[in-house]
Amino acid sequence: MTEQLLERLPHGRVIAVDASPAMVRLAAERLGDRADVRVADLTTLELEAPVDAVLSTATLHWIADHDALFARLRGVLRDGGRLVAQCGGAGNVVAVRDATAAVGAQAPFAQALEGFDPWTFATAEETEARLRAAGFVQARCWLEPRDVSTAGAPEEYLRTVMLGAHLQRLAPEHHDAYVTAVLARLGDFHVAHYVRLNIEAVA
Ligand SMILES: C[S@@+](CC[C@H](N)C(=O)[O-])C[C@H]1O[C@@H](n2cnc3c(N)ncnc32)[C@H](O)[C@@H]1O
Repeated sequence: MTEQLLERLPHGRVIAVDASPAMVRLAAERLGDRADVRVADLTTLELEAPVDAVLSTATLHWIADHDALFARLRGVLRDGGRLVAQCGGAGNVVAVRDATAAVGAQAPFAQALEGFDPWTFATAEETEARLRAAGFVQARCWLEPRDVSTAGAPEEYLRTVMLGAHLQRLAPEHHDAYVTAVLARLGDFHVAHYVRLNIEAVA
């Protein structure tokens, strides 16, 4: 996404942030000196000067406190600056979420996963209200259902795309059994039913 943004901004400056040092290292290797790539948590992000726009993809649903998040994003934008984002929204991958809740309550996974839910899948209405409370003068949000094929490899898709946060909390010897149990609960998992939350706001 940062690469595509740079292509569209030949005279602009891009600061790319992610909380993960590994992601930032890969992005820095790929982008070289074309972008200023930094490790930063969006809920505490501080920049030297206000920016014209914030673009975010596939990240905001990993952050629990959306009030703090939007207040901080408003804080780094100049007046009139724009926030454009897409993340998981209300109803996103609901079958996977239900399956992880059920399997996470069972032995031997419960010790690490009982009650664990890493995702904040908000509605459009509550997000618009949060954006206005955070100081955005305009806010428009909408949900967009999108089915994505698991490419004939549902187990691999679960392991690599969906369950990373769950697996991180589990001992390595339980990883295979956990993925197998979630897949068994899901039954048919040839398609992941995403519901994306689109966010457009003006500071
Ligand atoms: C699915 S990846 C998306 C990465 C990239 N934005 C993209 O679209 O390819 C989700 C990213 O959110 C990052 N993330 C999660 N919580 C974060 C936070 N509080 N602040 C910044 N980044 C965060 C993770 O480190 C991870 O790289």
